[in-house]
Amino acid sequence: MSKAVWIKHASQLVTLASEHRGPRTKEAMSELSIIEDGSIWLENEIIQAIGTTDELQIKYADRIDSAEIIDASGKLVTPGLVDPHTHVVYGGSREREFELRLEGATYMDIMNAGGGIHATSRMTREATEEKIFVQTEKRLDSFLAHGVTSIEGKSGYGLNLETEIKQLRVMRRLQQEHPIDIVPTFMGAHAVPSDFKGKEDQYVDLVVNEMLPRVAHDKLAKFNDVFCEVGVFTPEQSKRILEAGKTLGLTPKIHADEIESYGGAELAAEVGAISAEHLLKVSDMGIAAMAKKGVIACLLPATALYLRETAARGREMIDAGVPVAISTDCNPGSSPTTSMPLVMNLACISMRLTPAESLCAATYNAACAIEIEDKVGSLEVGKQADIVLWNVSNYQQLQYLFGVNHVNSVWKKGVKVVG
Ligand code: NIG
Ligand code: FE
Repeated sequence: MSKAVWIKHASQLVTLASEHRGPRTKEAMSELSIIEDGSIWLENEIIQAIGTTDELQIKYADRIDSAEIIDASGKLVTPGLVDPHTHVVYGGSREREFELRLEGATYMDIMNAGGGIHATSRMTREATEEKIFVQTEKRLDSFLAHGVTSIEGKSGYGLNLETEIKQLRVMRRLQQEHPIDIVPTFMGAHAVPSDFKGKEDQYVDLVVNEMLPRVAHDKLAKFNDVFCEVGVFTPEQSKRILEAGKTLGLTPKIHADEIESYGGAELAAEVGAISAEHLLKVSDMGIAAMAKKGVIACLLPATALYLRETAARGREMIDAGVPVAISTDCNPGSSPTTSMPLVMNLACISMRLTPAESLCAATYNAACAIEIEDKVGSLEVGKQADIVLWNVSNYQQLQYLFGVNHVNSVWKKGVKVVG
């Protein structure tokens, strides 16, 4: 049993606590449930009590001497951030593509010429499982240093059974060996591998008949994602893959309407996807369909910035009643970052989310997008003690002083892991 920890005198303790369960929409995204001079008692990996410093001082009067006491005076305290969309497990690096894009090439030009996802796929196939583990572990350390305590991770750089499984096994091992919680998504339909060019449906057959059954059998993933995009997988092919996953118990997610408007958001609503990702080019009908079905929009403003594209219509989506989450999209091509604080800043600057909405999108709604909201995403008694202390005194400053890592310390399951 670990020693009890008492964090006291937080200038703002942002709990995001609520009676309401499930993804938050509209005004509910701004209800942060803040406690001034806040205090929190952690023990046995769990949050045992929350209140003002005075309240907990009385409640634990006879135990305070034996607890580790953290004075959070002048500091903001929030739940650990959750990143619900990453491609963090991969081999190699693609800085040359960054230069190519600055010289005028587009993301799809590079991919169609055998670079992009195909380049990372080659490097991921070549690298040993151990090497990928070690590289990914470093990225997870960086996430943690930026206040992120849970992430989703996708396969999708294998594009063959063996390497897709290799990526998912790396995630399983990281879940055991790294403090970060990592929720695995199978994304065998991330691209059509070059040896299947012109035989796209045969690759879909392979995903449906071989990869998905194996992934489900070995319980290697919780979600099933598809890159539904012009020149990648059509809405029909995407639907087939997502429905096949559903029958095996994998919940659908979709990379939708990123480069072109292609009916991805509408498909997400139709198949009952938990979330649709990117949505830079989503149609008005797509937004309405997502609002109606409660599909979470997982928006990736760092990717839009990095590809020098206009950001998604986050403000409009919230106003239309779509629950919004935000994410780094951490990947070696379109968004090589692990900074959720930067993503929160960008959600405000480029999508006009308010600081409060941005924080909800990076914590509670993000947890909902990967179905871990019962455990994390808000500070409530009985939940996992995943907590960040920030070197700013209120949540607006966290968003206002941008491009800076304000993390003071990070607690994962009640244990200090950063700071
Ligand atoms: O979400 N859009 C497709 N997939 C990733 C990029 C992957 C890559 O370029 O390696 C994304 O942006
Ligand atoms: Fe992605």
